Amino acid sequence: MKRRNLLLGGGAMAALGLGAYALARGRSHDNAYESAAAALRAPRSPGDMGELDFLVHHATLAANSHNTQPWLFSGGAEQVTIRPDFSRATPAVDPDNHHLYASLGCAAENLSLAASAAGRSSAVAFLGEQDAVRVSLGAGAQPDPLFEAIVERQCTRSVYDGRQVPAEDLDAIAAAAKVAGCSVLLVTDKLRMEQVLELIVAANTAQVEDPAFVGELKHWLRFNAAEAVGHRDGLYSACSGNPALPSWIAGPAFGLVFTADAENAKCVSQVRSSAGFAVFVSDSNDPGHWVQAGRSYQRFALAATARGVRHAFLNQPVEVARFRPELAALLGTGDRRPDLVVRFGYAEPMPRSLRRPVAEVITA
Ligand SMILES: Cc1cc2nc3c(=O)[nH]c(=O)nc-3n(C[C@H](O)[C@H](O)[C@H](O)COP(=O)(O)O)c2cc1C
Repeated sequence: MKRRNLLLGGGAMAALGLGAYALARGRSHDNAYESAAAALRAPRSPGDMGELDFLVHHATLAANSHNTQPWLFSGGAEQVTIRPDFSRATPAVDPDNHHLYASLGCAAENLSLAASAAGRSSAVAFLGEQDAVRVSLGAGAQPDPLFEAIVERQCTRSVYDGRQVPAEDLDAIAAAAKVAGCSVLLVTDKLRMEQVLELIVAANTAQVEDPAFVGELKHWLRFNAAEAVGHRDGLYSACSGNPALPSWIAGPAFGLVFTADAENAKCVSQVRSSAGFAVFVSDSNDPGHWVQAGRSYQRFALAATARGVRHAFLNQPVEVARFRPELAALLGTGDRRPDLVVRFGYAEPMPRSLRRPVAEVITA
């Protein structure tokens, strides 16, 4: 073999070796991710782990914006208090902390359902002066069947299969989502869905072109299984149907593929394959009502999950403030602020997200 071929052959062998090594490492990280996601959702009981840990564990499995897990829990046998963790706020996408308080509502709802599974009654209240959600605990409750869906619920960000949801299922899901101070509007008419989609695309374009939004999103993206397992928070690429990338290449590669055209095309196929939208609209625009919107979403999501109906958020037109009035006019909500936009339909599950351990979110 000539020297040049020998060198090339040697280089190729080295590259092959490195590639195989990277692949094997990637696989072992994938396995570690899958084990962590599965362990998080293994059956638990208050007897095994203590009641407070049991309640908080299920609370943390709630949906939350960018998976920042912006919550701190404290309490005991009589009540649990959930406070915002502003160190995990996302000011670019959520400048007034609307999503942060909605996320606390999602957690409060799960906590309340977990209380029922532990035989405890509960009442959720937002305490404005303490800037906290309090879940008061009593005795003598029956397990709420929605509890079972907590470990199954996920935001499924894939293209759906286009099937409609039967009206009786949709009615039952919407009925389960009822909480005081918040309404759920269902949009299943195709023409109306296209009008909502137009706003999603316009607001999405604004976000993708906003360096502050993109910078913040990147901060919370976890580009491969090792990053995701290391942090146990944030948005792991596989959960959104994106390929895992080595950390060193992910930054520059993200800049190339995260474009308005590419992201808008995804939104179009996601919406056109969905059965409808659920839009959560609370009566007043304040943190207490944002908590209620989060609770209503969480109940909707659990009731949908229990019936095999999947869902994912497309919140762009409520996040970019200038699109809110147009969405409100389209939906006829008057001067009430649309809080959350969720599409629903049928699809296979996606990889599941991670959470930090309860010890990191329970404070004295
Ligand atoms: C208030 C709020 C806003 C959210 N906004 C979006 C969104 O605009 N797009 C999206 O894909 N997911 C959104 N999510 C979903 C979170 O990213 C998701 O809950 C989190 O990554 C954890 O994943 P899981 O819900 O599958 O467990 C939102 C969740 C909440 C509670």
